[in-house]
Amino acid sequence: MNIILLGPPGAGKGTQARKLVEERDMVQLSTGDMLRAARTSGTEMGKRVAAVMDRGELVTDEIVIGLIREQLESNGSAGGYIFDGFPRTLAQADALGELLRDMGENLDHVIEMQVDDQALVARITARSTCGSCGEVFNDITKPIPADGKCSKCGGSDFQRRADDNEESLRTRLLAYYKQTSPLIGYYHAKGDLVSVDGLGGMDEVADSIAKALA
Ligand code: AP5
Ligand code: MG
Repeated sequence: MNIILLGPPGAGKGTQARKLVEERDMVQLSTGDMLRAARTSGTEMGKRVAAVMDRGELVTDEIVIGLIREQLESNGSAGGYIFDGFPRTLAQADALGELLRDMGENLDHVIEMQVDDQALVARITARSTCGSCGEVFNDITKPIPADGKCSKCGGSDFQRRADDNEESLRTRLLAYYKQTSPLIGYYHAKGDLVSVDGLGGMDEVADSIAKALA
């Protein structure tokens, strides 16, 4: 089964994708994570996209489609793929359709995660990520354990993302409404879209997604 998690910054795409990976043996393909990895390893592309990401703008379609193509060509996934934060433009959606078709695969569901702006800002400004395994925490809803160690891997290096500030977040939200939200209509018209309330607790949202995938 191949699915897209579609939603604004902070909707919980990464959180729910990680749950699905654990429970269903699926592979998470997050273009945001791939771009951050390219920055950390200092590749030419990573250096080129750094400022764009920090401002909260979208990286070019050419770069992100290239990243996804590379992953699809090099990784098999028996349980299917979770596209997290991709596609984000109509050109990316068309490219994904073609890539899957070429592989003889289908897109099974597009899950739109609905969360209002106020909650998004609250979630994002409280987020931190384990630098070793990528587990995502939240000062309010999923705090780092009292012993200061990641509950997943025991690491103790927690990071805040450079684009998790108020100004970049405003740009990210604008990019979502302007460039990405048209995909809601696009997938609705294709009959692939299911919308879930992303405002509940993490387990509640996971249940809604499981129902949508059943
Ligand atoms: P990306 O990394 O994809 O960021 P994003 O879309 O802004 O989304 P986030 O990762 O911030 O949020 P999320 O929905 O994953 O939420 P999370 O689960 O972490 O992209 C970053 C940048 O890369 C873009 O701005 C762009 O520059 C570039 N880029 C990436 N893909 C691109 C593409 N396809 N095209 C062009 N450019 C691209 O949760 C957030 C917080 O809330 C966490 O603290 C979490 O613990 C908490 N939380 C989660 N669920 C709940 C819940 N149900 N209740 C309470 N708290 C919750
Ligand atoms: Mg994410």
